[in-house]
Amino acid sequence: MSKLSLRDLDVRGKRVLVRVDFNVPLEERDGKIVLTDDTRIRESLPTINYLREHGAKVILMSHLGRPKGKPNDKYSLRPVGDHLHTILDHPVAFAHETVGEIPQKIIADMCAGDVTLLENLRFRPEEEANDPQFAQQLADLGDVYVNDAFGAAHRAHASTAGITKFIAQSAMGLLMEKELRYLHEELDHPAKPFLVIMGGAKVSDKIGVLKALMEKADTILIGGAMANTFFKAEGIPIGASRLEADKVDLANELLELARKRGVKLVLPVDAIIAREVRAGAESRDSGQLTPEHGIPDGWQNLDAGTQTIALFEGEIAMAKTILWNGPLGVFEIPDFAKGTFAIAHALAHSNATTIIGGGDSVTAVKKAGVADKMTFISTGGGASLELLEGKELPGVATLTNK
Ligand code: 3PG
Repeated sequence: MSKLSLRDLDVRGKRVLVRVDFNVPLEERDGKIVLTDDTRIRESLPTINYLREHGAKVILMSHLGRPKGKPNDKYSLRPVGDHLHTILDHPVAFAHETVGEIPQKIIADMCAGDVTLLENLRFRPEEEANDPQFAQQLADLGDVYVNDAFGAAHRAHASTAGITKFIAQSAMGLLMEKELRYLHEELDHPAKPFLVIMGGAKVSDKIGVLKALMEKADTILIGGAMANTFFKAEGIPIGASRLEADKVDLANELLELARKRGVKLVLPVDAIIAREVRAGAESRDSGQLTPEHGIPDGWQNLDAGTQTIALFEGEIAMAKTILWNGPLGVFEIPDFAKGTFAIAHALAHSNATTIIGGGDSVTAVKKAGVADKMTFISTGGGASLELLEGKELPGVATLTNK
């Protein structure tokens, strides 16, 4: 890796500004805001603990949700600060302003090992506008900068990119390093056979990734609602299933590209179909799907069928590296979760390096209870897709070169 790492910095006694991605799901329960998943906070702990153990003053900054440049209590980071206090077992000071006298005063009183969290950066419109003056004000709060917010590294904002122009050294945090090691280095030279499982609702979200992965993958399994667009391209009737009609040509193009590159692109061979997307709706296995025997009118493809699961499990058993992004069905509804969970369990039992590329598939492996069996689970959604597409991430590109 050509960028400076946290381990290259001398942080003792220094004010270290750390951009984290504490964009975590919150819910209001009995008038109280509670965190429903603290994975992103826990994944930042190695960096926070490293800095505290090395005598740094740790100043954390993050966005939360999309408050559109205005303060909004619903998106305050205060509950996140309270939660961090509990898991660190150390007080976390909270600055309810991101720049200016309020954080300056709190930071001036910090001792080595102390932690301060700034309020949601997106309460200021200058954050997303990557305003240089705001970036400078943020930079003034610290001596060195660490970016550990992999999930936001695809955003060129003041705290993820602009700030690096105004501070002496900018380094990757330990989580950022780990994400890049798996999603970039490991997948650049994967142990073969390299299997990619792509699911999810829309093929349009995955075009760039699919094209980029065709360069490296041996086999690509397609699942979820995006398979419908490929069925259509193959002349298989899809009934009332969700379709991106304007992407059928593109699906054809991808099928052709796979043929040219010698990549085995595998579509589902059957599906669990229902007339309605709801728990308890009448559903059945479609049987083998062909142009002559497709999904009947009025029925929708909502999950992978039994034969598809067996076919995909066979491919998983043969692979040495597996990348999974996107569920195979509407797994939020138990009636249509079987395919997604079967894949999660097959990955858990395989001897391959298993990499979960962010988003819904992360929720799926957690729900299936096999998250600890995966080699690596990304904390990034959009960021991991952009990285897999081969795009440069501003939050990485702007860091100091080694
Ligand atoms: C994410 O949750 O993917 C990141 O925190 C980025 O959030 P954003 O899409 O609102 O920029």
